[in-house]
Amino acid sequence: MSKVLLVGGAGYVGSVLAEELLERGYAVRILDRLYYGDIGLRDIRDRVELVVADMRNVGPEVFEGVDALVNVGGLSNDPTAEYNPKANREMNTNASLALAETCKKLGIRRYIFASSALFTTAGWAVTRKMCFRMRLRL
Ligand SMILES: NC(=O)c1ccc[n+]([C@@H]2O[C@H](COP(=O)([O-])OP(=O)(O)OC[C@H]3O[C@@H](n4cnc5c(N)ncnc54)[C@H](O)[C@@H]3O)[C@@H](O)[C@H]2O)c1
Repeated sequence: MSKVLLVGGAGYVGSVLAEELLERGYAVRILDRLYYGDIGLRDIRDRVELVVADMRNVGPEVFEGVDALVNVGGLSNDPTAEYNPKANREMNTNASLALAETCKKLGIRRYIFASSALFTTAGWAVTRKMCFRMRLRL
């Protein structure tokens, strides 16, 4: 069974995605700091692995047995990003890039980064830079 590491998996998008992945037969490990609690996981809590941790500081054990990483973690909208731009950059840019680089290093071939907010604002340039650094294509 393929295992997906779902960063931000307790959030609005992540908790729905976790359920969908389980339905499709994937094993799911969620890494989330639980800023908004774990209510979104109430129906699947006994079927997922939950690692309560910060995406800015992820140990190698979190990647063990992982086949793919989906990243929907971090600050998810403009107001939270504007409230703390430093944390926003650390999570949404630096940590996202570090997670991708770790995947590459460990041979985890699929890294899915979901963020329409980034793509539709000035963050586009950041995304392109990240992709070039990772030798990925948009
Ligand atoms: N909600 C939408 O309608 C929507 C639409 C388009 C794109 N998106 C994008 O999808 C992504 C997820 O959106 P969402 O609405 O699910 O957001 P959300 O805020 O509900 O979920 C984000 C999750 O990330 C976790 N998180 C935040 N910082 C963390 C950290 N440092 N370490 C570990 N976990 C951390 C939070 O605890 C939360 O569970 C965002 O990038 C957002 O821009 C969302």
